[in-house]
Amino acid sequence: MRQKIENLKALVNSFQAKTADEVEALRIKYLSKKGEISLLFDEFRNVPNEEKREIGQLLNTLRQIATDRINSLRESLTAGSDCVEKQDLTRSAEPFELGARHPLSIVKNEIIDIFSRLGFTIAYGPEIEDDWHVFSALNFPPEHPARDMQDTFFIEKQPDILLRTHTSSVQTRVMKSQQPPIRVLCPGRVYRNEAISYRAHCFFHQVEGLYIDKDVSFADLKQALLYFAQEIFGEHTKIRLRPSYFPFTEPSAEMDISCNICGGEGCPFCKHTGWVEILGCGMVDPNVLEACGIDSKVYSGYAFGMGIERITNLKYQIKDLRLFSENDVRFLKQFT
Ligand code: PHE
Repeated sequence: MRQKIENLKALVNSFQAKTADEVEALRIKYLSKKGEISLLFDEFRNVPNEEKREIGQLLNTLRQIATDRINSLRESLTAGSDCVEKQDLTRSAEPFELGARHPLSIVKNEIIDIFSRLGFTIAYGPEIEDDWHVFSALNFPPEHPARDMQDTFFIEKQPDILLRTHTSSVQTRVMKSQQPPIRVLCPGRVYRNEAISYRAHCFFHQVEGLYIDKDVSFADLKQALLYFAQEIFGEHTKIRLRPSYFPFTEPSAEMDISCNICGGEGCPFCKHTGWVEILGCGMVDPNVLEACGIDSKVYSGYAFGMGIERITNLKYQIKDLRLFSENDVRFLKQFT
């Protein structure tokens, strides 16, 4: 008898049920009038008197455990269905929190938009490049400082492979694979070996443009850049071109715009000059055209390149470059 009670107790503790019907089946099997536990109570008659007290207690405990177990199974099942019944299907859905486009993407798209109105299409190229596409084809002399490890990230043990330092390498690829007229815009990430601070980072983003055809002149370049500056910074924006040097353009220039923060009056942002530099540009050096298989006696072209971070800083008055890559939602949320 004791053994039977022990066995049933173990069984009761392992009761499982997935539906109310299964719970009811357990109740009938063990606790109904003809159930296994009730039958034990019938057998109780034959227990010797001296054991009746102890066995009686064991039997009562067993019946209690089985009743509790079945009740709790029944409750857990009806609790679930209760929950379903209480769902209000007419309630409007939880609103999703909308993300924001990254400020660099916003500005990149705007730049692309402006130049596509001038007929530019987009070209992409690899971030891991070789020396020829980044430097040699672009007329960089072998000893040029940009080729120094201080400025460029090289792949270890492969001196010819590096992370592109400008997207001009994409322009090289386009010139190499197609004949003029060429009118492309090359957006992308570039890498330079700089210490990270509020005003420099080891990677940033550029959009460079290239236009090659017959009779392309510096005046065409200036007009395109003026259009761009006034589209992105407002119609009252003025531009000025200062002579500069790039190995791949001749003549070369840097372009300033009238400071869009003080309107040219002079402020800390433009260092009280009224002007801020936004891009480099120039007429494509004939050496570059020839290196890429384009006849420099027939064709000429212009090129320009700008940092998207710089334009974004100016547009939104962001003073720390690092904000762009930290993914702080408090910063990003402001661009929703
Ligand atoms: N490639 C230059 C840079 O990364 C920008 C540039 C492009 C200048 C085209 C002139 C012409 O700084």
